[in-house]
Amino acid sequence: MQPRPAASRALSMPRSAIREIMSLAAGREDVIHMEIGEPDFSTPDHIITGAFEAAQRGFTKYTPNPGMATLREAIASHASSRTGTKIGAQRVVITTGAVGGLFCALMSVADAGDEVLIPDPGWPNYDSITHLAGAKPVKFALLPEFGFVPDFDTIEEMVTERTKVIIMNTPGNPTGAVLPVEVMKRLADFAKRHGIYVISDEVYEDIIFEGEHVSAARFGLDDRLFLVSGASKTYAMTGWRLGYVICPEKLAPVAAALQEPVASCASSVSQKAYEVALAGPRDCIGQFREIYRRRRDILLEVLGNTGLLPVVPAGAFYALVDITDRHATQGSLAFARRLLQERNVAVVPGITFGPSCDRYVRVAFTTRDDSLRQGLTVLRDFIEHG
Ligand SMILES: Cc1ncc(COP(=O)(O)O)c(C=O)c1O
Repeated sequence: MQPRPAASRALSMPRSAIREIMSLAAGREDVIHMEIGEPDFSTPDHIITGAFEAAQRGFTKYTPNPGMATLREAIASHASSRTGTKIGAQRVVITTGAVGGLFCALMSVADAGDEVLIPDPGWPNYDSITHLAGAKPVKFALLPEFGFVPDFDTIEEMVTERTKVIIMNTPGNPTGAVLPVEVMKRLADFAKRHGIYVISDEVYEDIIFEGEHVSAARFGLDDRLFLVSGASKTYAMTGWRLGYVICPEKLAPVAAALQEPVASCASSVSQKAYEVALAGPRDCIGQFREIYRRRRDILLEVLGNTGLLPVVPAGAFYALVDITDRHATQGSLAFARRLLQERNVAVVPGITFGPSCDRYVRVAFTTRDDSLRQGLTVLRDFIEHG
């Protein structure tokens, strides 16, 4: 007898088209990479050395589900001073990357059939986690005419008695939008009025070119906010898989317990590495940011006057580029495949980020200045002349 079928929820999980482009580009030396959503720098040396020494001292074992007490304290004190709000260590759960924090947060509050408000365009993993929870994604549009900032008048109309949680992301992937204080205040009022949880994904909080990062933690949401961030983007530590979620106090034990069947705990060596990062010099953060800013300016030089940039990115390291001319016949996935096959340039098809985004591709400025300039020039030419 044949084995019975695999789990339908697993098989029907939405998959990200980022992976398809990455596998097509993998192993090819002639490709300019503008698809990769991770810093192209190495983790700063003092962090690597600190982690190495910690491993030698014996930090190679399981830790408690929510993480090491010393790091929970360090994260709480870092987040308190960043947000100007007192955050206790008991609210911190250390996770396997920020994505682990998003997973624990959503699983803590979303039942099967609950509705989850998700930005469109937005990071595709919001959809897949919602799907695994058996919950229903309800997309709210981020429109280029509003600078990809959410419009709460429209979101209000989407609330039903099944709405459980809204996901917000600032600075935004893939838009590069940094949400201003008025919008974050509106988010807080909205969540309080409707009794809805907020998952605020702030993993790009240190990569800001214009304006300031406004954390959702500033607005008295303590009993309903899951604030997600981590080491990956700020310290070029994607491979260490270290993130965290600051939970409502009552739900922190729930989120921590959810780690047991999936990861048990975040890696102990990585936790030590992040402890060193938080304690150590912060100048690497500014240095990385200035490199991204310089590259963002290259983007403006190449695409600024073409009408192809719907919004100038104010944070993170991404921009959406309008491919409407070619989209009419192809769609963003076919466009990205052709750009890679015919011109050796890899970008992410916008459709990955939601139905509204098929008229765009996403470029990441995580590649050297000269390659970036060349890749953007090829992209511009391909959009304009085919
Ligand atoms: C918006 C957003 N949130 C979360 C993550 C996950 O970060 P981590 O590598 O820490 O899991 C990413 C990674 O690309 C992201 O773009």
